[in-house]
Amino acid sequence: MARADVLVLFGATGDLAKKKLFPALYEMEEAGELEIPVFAVASSKWTQDEFKIRAEASIRERKASLDEVINESALNKLLDKLFLVVGDYQDPQTFIKLREALLEFKLPVIYLAIAPGMFTDVTQGLAKVNLTAIARVVVEKPFGRDLASAIALDEALKKLLPEDQIYRIDHYLGKESVEDLLVFRFANTLFEPVWNRNYISNIQITMSEDFGIDGRGKFYDEVGALRDVVQNHLLQVLTMLTMEPPIDMSSSALQDEKVKVLSAVRKVLPSDVVRGQYVGYLQEEGVSAQSPIETFVAMRLFIDNWRWAGVPIYLRTGKKLAETTMEAVVEFNQPPRQLFATQGQPAPEPNIVRFRLGRQDGVDLSLQAKAPGSQLITNTVDLTVEFAAALGARKEAYERLLDAAILGDHFRFTRIDAVLKSWEILENIVLAPSTLHPYFGATWGPQEAMELVPGGWMDVGTAAEKSS
Ligand code: BG6
Repeated sequence: MARADVLVLFGATGDLAKKKLFPALYEMEEAGELEIPVFAVASSKWTQDEFKIRAEASIRERKASLDEVINESALNKLLDKLFLVVGDYQDPQTFIKLREALLEFKLPVIYLAIAPGMFTDVTQGLAKVNLTAIARVVVEKPFGRDLASAIALDEALKKLLPEDQIYRIDHYLGKESVEDLLVFRFANTLFEPVWNRNYISNIQITMSEDFGIDGRGKFYDEVGALRDVVQNHLLQVLTMLTMEPPIDMSSSALQDEKVKVLSAVRKVLPSDVVRGQYVGYLQEEGVSAQSPIETFVAMRLFIDNWRWAGVPIYLRTGKKLAETTMEAVVEFNQPPRQLFATQGQPAPEPNIVRFRLGRQDGVDLSLQAKAPGSQLITNTVDLTVEFAAALGARKEAYERLLDAAILGDHFRFTRIDAVLKSWEILENIVLAPSTLHPYFGATWGPQEAMELVPGGWMDVGTAAEKSS
């Protein structure tokens, strides 16, 4: 695929641009990988200088939060590549101005980091000035609000752009730790033979955040946890953990396998789901006083295929929880006979593979080893690897995704059939949400969520303990 020669950023004043996109552009510049100019489109009436000051501040803030030093020369080079186009997204003049600014470029990547409700209008604006004839368009998640609206959005976009010019973002697909699930499973002979219902008793995926909605009340109150992260991030992680090996590592082979496993996931019923809302959410700015939106969701699901039939899979996510973590834990069955359990003592812990997918990503294998002493009993030991320490620094997701869109590689983006399948899985609970349970901050959510998992959720961080 040809390399794009310019990047256009809609939503340049938004939260995503501030927190992720400008810092990612800086990292690309520092690595010598950003060879193209960046045009930002924003409705705020800033001057070029004011815009650059904002971009610079967001980069400095991010680097300071990571305790990392700024490379001033890379920062200046990036700022020299940034240009602002001011205009309202509803105003045709904005698109005419943009077209004029892009006259010398042949292959723009246009990133829509804007409210999902604006995707169609902005793409229509781009079409009116013929930019859709040449551009790749990147759309943020969530793609639609439910199955029907995702189909409608797809139809509206397809009238303006073919599938191969659309890049649907789910930034979890840009995470090296999530991609590592493929490598762990399909580059190590050790695990694949036992990666099925005969050896695995259950899978638990936790994405927890100890912070709230961070000033994003208006956006969040339209979506809630289910649409914000379950339909996309968590189902993507589930897919990577459970799909069959693709025939090769081409984008289409990977997408085919994803669709296949998603097609086998049983539609979730309200009785499989616990929704919660943290106490204090209704007082957040931008949130409606009677909001029925969940900030926590836990669910049980099943994959009705040969490999996974009968294995319960649990997902949970929430804001204002006890810890920030992103983990997938695969628990194995107990050995067929307990040879090392002494009378009156609990059986040894089962083996566990824990994938740490957030910060300090890596893998832990939890095994049994002989406890010191005269008795033949066991203790749990963890074999742990932290990838950055073992292999060197990993790139941020948005850096990899921007790079992939510039290169025209769909591997790390979602295909429409997979998006529609994931909405189908959640359709019952999106259309008829179950009871909303309140929970206090710094906890693991409503008590009802604890009861979803027989024996309780595995504690995050250590293999042996259980959270309660
Ligand atoms: C975003 C959600 O997609 O992912 C946020 O909109 C969430 O609500 C964020 O906080 C989490 O991303 P990460 O990469 O920090 O796990």
